[in-house]
Amino acid sequence: MTQRLLGNLSASTFLRRHWQKQPLFVRDALPQCGEWLQRDVLFELACRDDVESRIVTRARGQWRVAHGPFTHDKLRRHPARGWTLLVQGVEQFLPQASLLLQQFSFIPHARLDDLMVSYAAPGGGVGPHFDSYDVFLLQGIGSRRWQIGAQKQLALVDNAPLRILRTFHPQQTWEVQQGDLLYLPPRYAHDGVASSACMTLSVGFRTPRKLELAANFLDFLQDNLHIDGMIEDAGLPLQAHPAELPAFLIDKFSRALKSVRWSEADVWRFAGCYLTEPKPQVVFQRPRRAMTLAHFTKRVMTRGLQLALPTRMLFAGRQIFINGECHPLSAAHRNALIRLADTRATPAFTPGAATARLLYAWYCAGYVHA
Ligand code: SIN
Ligand code: CO
Repeated sequence: MTQRLLGNLSASTFLRRHWQKQPLFVRDALPQCGEWLQRDVLFELACRDDVESRIVTRARGQWRVAHGPFTHDKLRRHPARGWTLLVQGVEQFLPQASLLLQQFSFIPHARLDDLMVSYAAPGGGVGPHFDSYDVFLLQGIGSRRWQIGAQKQLALVDNAPLRILRTFHPQQTWEVQQGDLLYLPPRYAHDGVASSACMTLSVGFRTPRKLELAANFLDFLQDNLHIDGMIEDAGLPLQAHPAELPAFLIDKFSRALKSVRWSEADVWRFAGCYLTEPKPQVVFQRPRRAMTLAHFTKRVMTRGLQLALPTRMLFAGRQIFINGECHPLSAAHRNALIRLADTRATPAFTPGAATARLLYAWYCAGYVHA
């Protein structure tokens, strides 16, 4: 399956030759791609306030962006040409979208951002731009003309409401049809214009900016720091200007700050929590009338368990991370829980009392279904 998706390349060859390095175009990689997604279902999502959506239009050379939620009326009243609707995080709402992402499991889940789906009227697109993440652009219904270029000049148009390249020098062009796939590494210039009304499914793999990573790590450290004691300044020398910052005190600050330490284990724990942290708009559906723990455990023993669509789960060594939380991974149920994290479902198994209680808490929080 992966081989067809990658145009007869094995996943390891793809990773070696293309990942973060060069584009790959595959004709008919995923036949009938996006057949399960009707335009009206996408419109429906764009009307919800827990969904991130936007409409990009270009009229008389001017780009415009409007942010959702939209009304059905607004979506239907759009002109026949030159606009596109983009909906983020579609895998959180549609099981088929979540299944589609599983076809990309040759990339670690830790790198996955989301599935964005666009609907474009003929002539619609978001203009020539680059993205800062790896993306697989899968063509759903309809056709689109993609142009890409390896240019180093990536200056953007000033004051535009979206990121548009000032100059674009396409080197390759494809008229893509349903099922075609285009992989682009980060910062690769591209422009897709709908040839007919069409949908494009973008599987995005993001890494955080180093500054964003550091800021989040500092937050994590703050919550997990244990430094005792107060700053003391016995021996403070008399100074001529009371308003002058005392070097004596700054030296004490400096020494106290140098005692902020972290270990490799802290980085693992931080990474697991950070990478499974739900996006701000995610809402987990708690069961309306929750089963009892005993009933739930029986269900796990007969039917197994599935992750709820918005749930993110990763593991490392003896820790399991789910939606920003960290829990110990018990040796007895390691295989079942790893399978749950890898494939989003696990067949029936018999959890011990502690694992059953943990899974039950996840069920009550809306993280899993049994
Ligand atoms: C689109 O689907 O119109 C845009 C996708 C992209 O260029 O990243
Ligand atoms: Co793009």
